Amino acid sequence: MTASIASFVIDKADLSRTAIVDTPLPALQPGEILLKVDSFAFTANNITYAEMGDRMAYWAFYPAGDNRGIVPVWGFADVIDSRHDRIARGERIYGFLPMATHAVLQPEKITDTSLVDGTPHRKALPPAYNFYVRTTGDTAFLPEHEPLQALLRPLFITAFLIDDFLADEKFFGAQTVVISSASSKTAFGLAWLLHKRRGITVTGLTSAGNRDFVAGLGCYDRVVLYDDIASLDAAQPAVYVDFAGSGAVRKAIHEHYGDALKYSCAVGLSHRETSPPGKGLPGPKPVFFFAPDRIRKRTQDWGRGGIDTRFADAIGDFLPKAAGWLRIIEGSGESSVAAAWQATLAGEVKPDEGHILSLWE
Ligand SMILES: NC(=O)c1ccc[n+]([C@@H]2O[C@H](COP(=O)([O-])OP(=O)(O)OC[C@H]3O[C@@H](n4cnc5c(N)ncnc54)[C@H](OP(=O)(O)O)[C@@H]3O)[C@@H](O)[C@H]2O)c1
Repeated sequence: MTASIASFVIDKADLSRTAIVDTPLPALQPGEILLKVDSFAFTANNITYAEMGDRMAYWAFYPAGDNRGIVPVWGFADVIDSRHDRIARGERIYGFLPMATHAVLQPEKITDTSLVDGTPHRKALPPAYNFYVRTTGDTAFLPEHEPLQALLRPLFITAFLIDDFLADEKFFGAQTVVISSASSKTAFGLAWLLHKRRGITVTGLTSAGNRDFVAGLGCYDRVVLYDDIASLDAAQPAVYVDFAGSGAVRKAIHEHYGDALKYSCAVGLSHRETSPPGKGLPGPKPVFFFAPDRIRKRTQDWGRGGIDTRFADAIGDFLPKAAGWLRIIEGSGESSVAAAWQATLAGEVKPDEGHILSLWE
């Protein structure tokens, strides 16, 4: 075992500046476990975590000092040391991990298939991020599907929750859902779910380079380029689900639809504008969709496990389909991680590529 933790850190003031920082492995305290971070997925979502690092506390999960941050990622880790009597060495867990070689957790609220990290500084953070799956013995976690699960599980849960939210609200009276950054994995997961519903059509907005990919998915009824928003039927009541977070696109949609826009759902910032307009637009005020809040609501409505069983069915159907749409690109070591970071930051990753990374060579 190496004697130090290697962390991939980002300059909070300039996300293109990255470095590896080595810190000594801490001596485990009673109740703690040491994880070897084996592999993690990396998409535009992780860049958004960095963009929103201060505002939404993403830097707070794995603190790295005032000026530098460690971006959280979703992936798999092995327990390589344990001072917890219920978690043994050799277990494999899935959850919110640091871009690093190791992590230390304080498991609590342990069940046969899950645990919660009770590290004191994380207690005030959204519970959904402190929840880990104990994959060992969980038949839903087939090793051959790990990369696809690491990639799609955290994104598809948001798609699943938005689909459920919109259906629950009867689409606010709309007949079509217009989705920006239609080529993103979260967006096409949502489109796939919506496409199966009756009485609602799905329109994808994307950039020219990604149009063919989006059109080939078969879950968007219509694919429109950002420059062609004027071609949309403004008389047809619509809901806008915004993964791009582009101010110009949002303004164009609101102005085009006006009162026919029934709801404006702000989800992502893939186009990297951290302050897209909220006020002063025609039509409804954009409302930010925060998945952990909706999880809290549906846990109250459906009871413990209610989301899990419904989500397991939905992702069970989606993964085989998505497997045909994506190519897994594996990269290991500091230079591969840095290359994936820069390419994703610059928007140079093709929509059919899914990066699975590891800081271990
Ligand atoms: N609120 C939540 O709970 C939640 C949950 C999941 C995801 N999200 C957000 O949804 C967004 C999509 O995430 P994802 O991981 O699904 O993305 P992804 O699969 O990595 O999608 C990448 C797509 O985003 C656009 N894009 C990415 N970088 C860009 C850049 N630098 N310049 C211009 N366009 C760029 C492109 O789509 P187009 O050409 O089609 O625009 C690209 O194909 C992220 O902002 C993420 O944070 C939010």
